[in-house]
Amino acid sequence: MNALRTALSRSRLPLLRSSAVITAKPITAAHRRPFASTTPAATATAAMSKLSADTVLEHVRNRRTYYGLTKSLGDLTPARVEEIVKESLKHVPSSFNSQSNRVVVLFGAHHDKLWDLTAETLRAIVPAEQWPSTEQRIAGFKAGAASVLFFEDDAVVRHMQEQFAIYADRFAPWAGHSSAMLQLVVWTALEAEGLGANLQHYNPLIDDKVRKEWEVPETWRLTAQLVVGARNGGPGAPGQEKTFKPFSETYKSYGA
Ligand SMILES: Cc1cc2nc3c(=O)[nH]c(=O)nc-3n(C[C@H](O)[C@H](O)[C@H](O)COP(=O)(O)O)c2cc1C
Repeated sequence: MNALRTALSRSRLPLLRSSAVITAKPITAAHRRPFASTTPAATATAAMSKLSADTVLEHVRNRRTYYGLTKSLGDLTPARVEEIVKESLKHVPSSFNSQSNRVVVLFGAHHDKLWDLTAETLRAIVPAEQWPSTEQRIAGFKAGAASVLFFEDDAVVRHMQEQFAIYADRFAPWAGHSSAMLQLVVWTALEAEGLGANLQHYNPLIDDKVRKEWEVPETWRLTAQLVVGARNGGPGAPGQEKTFKPFSETYKSYGA
């Protein structure tokens, strides 16, 4: 792992676009900011950034899984949902700014169709005794108002692999990371506006049907489905409180 890191850190510089190297200016004392400053402007900036971090964290905390959903979008219009998804899609980072994320949003009858074709797919493979619970679960997703389908474009991944052979085996997981970032932002943003949502993974079972139904390009690979609607009930599975591992198990810091 360390050897890989060393190899990557050594190899990264020559791969930077030459313009980035040419325009980079040496860091001088004037460029360096002190860690703390007592100027009024610095204090105001610090106060603002504290406030804005708290706002972000509040939304991070508030994002939950809501299974009970209705066909309403609450106070939101489909156009507002699209705006939120598109802004997220545009600004979420990707490795080397490769922009591998792709999204299809399904409203109304198209959302219903997605869950009908998912039910149809599962009906053919789920054991008969499990079908009633599966059918009920899918009906719960269909009861929502919209579905956001997340894809990774494998053509972008392949292009990056060709461009930067040294990272060839990294681009697929990095595209996955970028997709996960996008999923979290969209999920968090829609819930910040009062909607509920839950994240599903019926890929790859439904990929072919989705591709055919909504003319999805061959190279787009489905990674997740976010089901969205007005909340009908509280977060999480009924009767289950969300639990948290202690930081003593999950977190370390040094030098603070
Ligand atoms: C990568 C990932 C995959 C998930 N897959 C599913 C899924 O297929 N079906 C589902 O109902 N929830 C899925 N979830 C939701 C998690 O179960 C849920 O986020 C977790 O239990 C924490 O609950 P919360 O979302 O209310 O905070 C997934 C979440 C993540 C991050």
